[in-house]
This record gives sequence, C-alpha cells and structure tokens, in this order.
Amino acid sequence: MKRKRLVIANWKCNGGSSIVSRYLREEFTLGNAELVVCPPLIFLTQLQSLAGEYASLGAQDLSELEDGPYTGDISSRMIRESGATWSLIGHSERRALHKEGKAQILRKLQSALRVRIKPILCVGETLADRQDGQAFEAVSEQLEVLASLNELGTIDNLCIAYEPIWAIGSGRTASPADAQSMHVLIREKVGSMGLASTDNLRIVYGGSVSAENCCSFLNEDDIDGVLVGGASLNVPEFKKIVKICGSC
Ligand code: PGA
Repeated sequence: MKRKRLVIANWKCNGGSSIVSRYLREEFTLGNAELVVCPPLIFLTQLQSLAGEYASLGAQDLSELEDGPYTGDISSRMIRESGATWSLIGHSERRALHKEGKAQILRKLQSALRVRIKPILCVGETLADRQDGQAFEAVSEQLEVLASLNELGTIDNLCIAYEPIWAIGSGRTASPADAQSMHVLIREKVGSMGLASTDNLRIVYGGSVSAENCCSFLNEDDIDGVLVGGASLNVPEFKKIVKICGSC
C-alpha cells in the first residue's frame, strides 16, 4: 500500500528571522511528499503562509495543560490557533532533558487530538538497548501509551517517528534494513493493540537524515518519510531532501 511520504523538519531550539525568511522565500519541490515544518513555537505565526495543501506547520512539543494559571506553558489550543496542525510528542530530547514519561506523553497526545493536532509520536532505543538486543523491547514499551488512547479511531491522524537515540545528531544512522525491520515491528505492535487498521499509519525514520541517505530509507516498504533535525537548518540541503523524498 502506498502512503503519501512525509518529510518533517525539526528545527529544535534553533533559528531566527533569517531562516524564517529563507523558508518563506524558497519553493520546495514536493512531488509525492508532504512537508511539515516544526520551528520553535515563537515562529509559527510568521510561517503561516507556508501552510497549504501539501505543506503544514507543526510544533515540537505542546503543554498537556489546557488554558489556565500555568506560567510558561503554551496550550495545544494556542498552538492550533497559531497555525500548527501537527506536533512532535515524546521526542527523545524531551524524554531525557525534561524527564517526560508515559503518563505525561499520554496527556500530551490527548491534548493534541482534542484540538485536531496530529501527533507525531517519537520513539527510539538507546545505544545500550541496541547493543543488548533490546531495541524492540524499548521501542515497544514507548508505544504502549497508544493503547490508552481510546480516541484512536483517529489512526489516520497519527504518525510515529522511529528515531534511534544514538543516531540523532551523531552523523550515524541505522541501516535502512534495520530501520525497515523496526518499522514492521512498530506497525505490528500498533496493529496488535486492537486499533483501526494500520495500513494508513505513516512511520517515519529520523536520526542524521541527509540528502545523501534519505532515498535509501524511503526505498524500504515500511518507511513512509523522514524526520530531519540538523539538515533542516541548512536550507539548500533540506530543499534537496524534500525533492528527493518526493521523487525517489
Ligand atoms: P538529526 O535530528 O537529524 O539532527 O539527527 C533528528 C531529530 O532529533 O529529530
């Protein structure tokens, strides 16, 4: 089954007016790809004109709290109102640096779905997990949160990003074959939770994706797109990635 490819840019805590205007100026050649740009929240409103039929804006995170006396939080409703229709949730940097665990990630998923923001649930194993042969167990545990998500008749509105933690920002990637095996297991695991059919579920790979390696991932049957961190800040390189992903 052919799913529309998804290319997601994750600027992380980077960027400013110059990259915002570059993204606004550039023409991305999408082909068979859909583009989601996740800048820091503060830039969402400036990037609104990017969003169209095949390009959307996303957040890198959202608060699980609704509007109220929560200093520093930004609610999913505000994020939706700023133009984002997607959000990364449970990125490994949030899990590690902000100690986000299952219960909080579940609340964030629910909060996103309540305002029709499509979650991109990020999962991935550490190097130690992989070396111990425990990679799938680690990823599987992170997926369990979906079983509690009973609004998940909305599987068409969910995306999973498989990002081995050791591949993020390291210049090392999983091999396409290893990533494909993990994506098959992820699809099976999500399917086994008694949720709707996973035929439409998009599972993207992330971790040191570049223009040079992106096509090798997309040639695998169960890899439906890429999540790009560092290379999304290099606009010419990212344009190449989008073009290749839409056509390879
Ligand atoms: P990277 O980051 O492409 O710089 O490895 C990916 C991510 O963390 O989403």
